Amino acid sequence: MQNDLFLRAARGEETERTPVWIMRQAGRYLPEYRALRSEEAFFDVCRTPELAAEVTLQPIERFALDAAIIFSDILVVPQAMGMSVRIVPGDGPTFDDPLESPEDLGRLIDPDVLEDLGYVFDAISHSRRRLAGRVPLIGFCGAPWTLMAYMIEGGGSKTFARAKSWLYRYPSASRELLERLTDVLIEYLVGQIDAGAQAVQVFDSWAGLLGPVEYQTYMIPYLRRIGGEVAERRPDAPRIVFARGAHYALDALADAEYDVIGLDWTMSPSLARTVVRGRAVLQGNLDPAVLYAEPEVIRREVRRMLTEFGPTGHIANLGHGMHPDHDPEHARVFIDAVHDISKELRQAA
Ligand code: CP3
Repeated sequence: MQNDLFLRAARGEETERTPVWIMRQAGRYLPEYRALRSEEAFFDVCRTPELAAEVTLQPIERFALDAAIIFSDILVVPQAMGMSVRIVPGDGPTFDDPLESPEDLGRLIDPDVLEDLGYVFDAISHSRRRLAGRVPLIGFCGAPWTLMAYMIEGGGSKTFARAKSWLYRYPSASRELLERLTDVLIEYLVGQIDAGAQAVQVFDSWAGLLGPVEYQTYMIPYLRRIGGEVAERRPDAPRIVFARGAHYALDALADAEYDVIGLDWTMSPSLARTVVRGRAVLQGNLDPAVLYAEPEVIRREVRRMLTEFGPTGHIANLGHGMHPDHDPEHARVFIDAVHDISKELRQAA
């Protein structure tokens, strides 16, 4: 491995500079991604290992990133469970037949993960080969609650009212669904690690929809089972959890068997440090909107972020993903600023 800064930082070790990667670093803000997508449907790219590897490497070829993330989507798991999902331009993910009532759980398949998601594992081994040790490769999945939210809602939503209504109308069916997703996700992450993923991230993008009481029932037990069972079976691959909007859950997440906790941009790094008390490394959390600003503003905000997190126990990232209308040159300014300023701050210390 030529650059293992990300893996060392994920284990809490000291590094000569702060590693950086970006959620959604492969995607529509890159002209080379748009060119490839003009020829191929989104899930066809995911299902074709050569194409998925090609897109995984696009940001690595362009920028001095410290990690790659496999190009795929969290919704490949509902697909493997028998649901039909497409990406509709302008609308985002769209399910043909979302779950409406507990009886619909009967139409979900318990997949053979190695077989039905084998194309993701192939994409991972292809990407590893093409990376040739330049930087580590991150695997990922959606968290049970976030996947449940899409499976019931049928797509994006402001309130996710349908999905949330299940928690109060059908609590036991909700727990059954979360349990089934958890079983699949554990096998899926273990399979990704076996295929070559050197770390894994669980995206709970809609964690913020749950309140400080519901998360104890519908989020933490499942995240803890995933973290714990993957840790037991594949102890060498660091685990990251990103629960967007879940301020109230930071203390519980720190005991949920993850090495790294991702913070969104609304969370204060110093407050998070106080709550987490050294139980996990922190990742994040520059506001993606900062990348719309001029380079000197980006550098100023990076300096502020790095100063607040401190030199160890931090992996730099945005507080959520790249936007399609971001300028790739501003992503470069962000990445280079993390490298330059984190080195400078260490020398000054
Ligand atoms: O570079 C990377 O981060 C790896 C690839 C990746 C994608 N999706 C590619 C993608 C990752 C890690 C994801 C995770 C994902 N997918 C999440 C969790 C992260 C988050 O953003 O909160 C969620 C909620 C999804 C579901 C999903 N899939 C959404 C909301 C969208 C975007 C819809 C839109 O039109 O904006 C997708 C489609 C998708 N997944 C795209 C990409 C690059 C855009 C699709 C396209 O090419 O048209």
